[in-house]
Amino acid sequence: MERYYFDHNATTPVSPEVLSAMLPLMTEVYGNASSIHFFGQMAKTKLDEARRQVAALLGATPEEIVFTSGGTEADNLAVLGAADGGQVITTTIEHSAVLATSAHAASVRFVSVDGRGVVDPDAIRRALQPDTKVISVMHANNELGVIQPIAEIAKIAKEAGVIFHSDGVQAAGKIPVNVNALGVDLYSISGHKIYGPKGVGALYVRKGTRIASRMFGGHHERDLRAGTENVAGAVGLGQAAQQILGDLEGAHLAELRDRLEQGILDRVPSAHINGAGAPRTPNTSNVRFDGVDSESLLIALDLDGFAVSSGSACSSGATEPSHVLTAIGLSKLQARSSVRFSLGRSNTVQQVDALIAAVAKSVERLRKLAPAYA
Ligand SMILES: Cc1ncc(COP(=O)(O)O)c(C=O)c1O
Repeated sequence: MERYYFDHNATTPVSPEVLSAMLPLMTEVYGNASSIHFFGQMAKTKLDEARRQVAALLGATPEEIVFTSGGTEADNLAVLGAADGGQVITTTIEHSAVLATSAHAASVRFVSVDGRGVVDPDAIRRALQPDTKVISVMHANNELGVIQPIAEIAKIAKEAGVIFHSDGVQAAGKIPVNVNALGVDLYSISGHKIYGPKGVGALYVRKGTRIASRMFGGHHERDLRAGTENVAGAVGLGQAAQQILGDLEGAHLAELRDRLEQGILDRVPSAHINGAGAPRTPNTSNVRFDGVDSESLLIALDLDGFAVSSGSACSSGATEPSHVLTAIGLSKLQARSSVRFSLGRSNTVQQVDALIAAVAKSVERLRKLAPAYA
């Protein structure tokens, strides 16, 4: 049976170019980038090149890039590194890497979003307190794809003298990102969402932004992230960044996403696009099918060869419905009736058409089985 992958927001495959860039780091270039001998300097050269490639993706300078073990660690370093015993302001739709981290700050205020999933910059302004140290608002949401007004919030943070972090894990590689145009002080990215390896990410730290390290040990990464550098991972992230900068694929993915949504709306009664009307990343579609349990639909689609998600990968398996969907005003039942499709490089028009047919078939069957809906 052919299998089709529509879960690129959960993770992406490593691209062939990334793999071949990484392989020599496992065999020939194995030095410790901190060693001053030839082997160490070979590794250091590779690490420096990767830092330049990641900086280029974000419009930053190489000195502003701190390699981490992924998006989660970048978010932890940003939020708690900047919180400095003060208050964190964040939103109700953040990824758990920011939500759970904020709970460890001295205090936290959660700003809610509208029915599309967009935060009002004025609500952020109103939440400011004398002890607010950091504002953290994600650039694009992992479940809805909804893009936040980051540049406007950055202005508010700057006026207030507060550090501004944005979790860009689901934005980088999908929409153009320039940290200077956005005005962010801190920006997180992750390798495995952009066809790079898992277990590597980066935090952009604007020159002059003072944050404290969360990891103690050696003086690596300008004292912000102790530990022998994962040079192979950094090289993979760098290569992925370079590749995606040359080809964002946005227009192509938006066409496929629109075809998918239109096809579903045409063929499936009582289907609704969550986050509709908001600016969204081109690859993400979150659809509510009234009367259908999303886990049952996910399993039915998996049996037909289609991989989709019911909520974020990190929260599936949990019994609670998605906090993002309830934050935009969906009832628990509605949230449990929603499925996320996230497209990527490998998807074609034929796959999308086959997915539409499979969704229509399964939704009809599951609704017949649901007495309450019938
Ligand atoms: C918005 C967002 N932030 C952070 C993360 C965590 O990144 P990582 O898996 O690299 O730790 C994810 C992963 O799903 C994400 O979607």
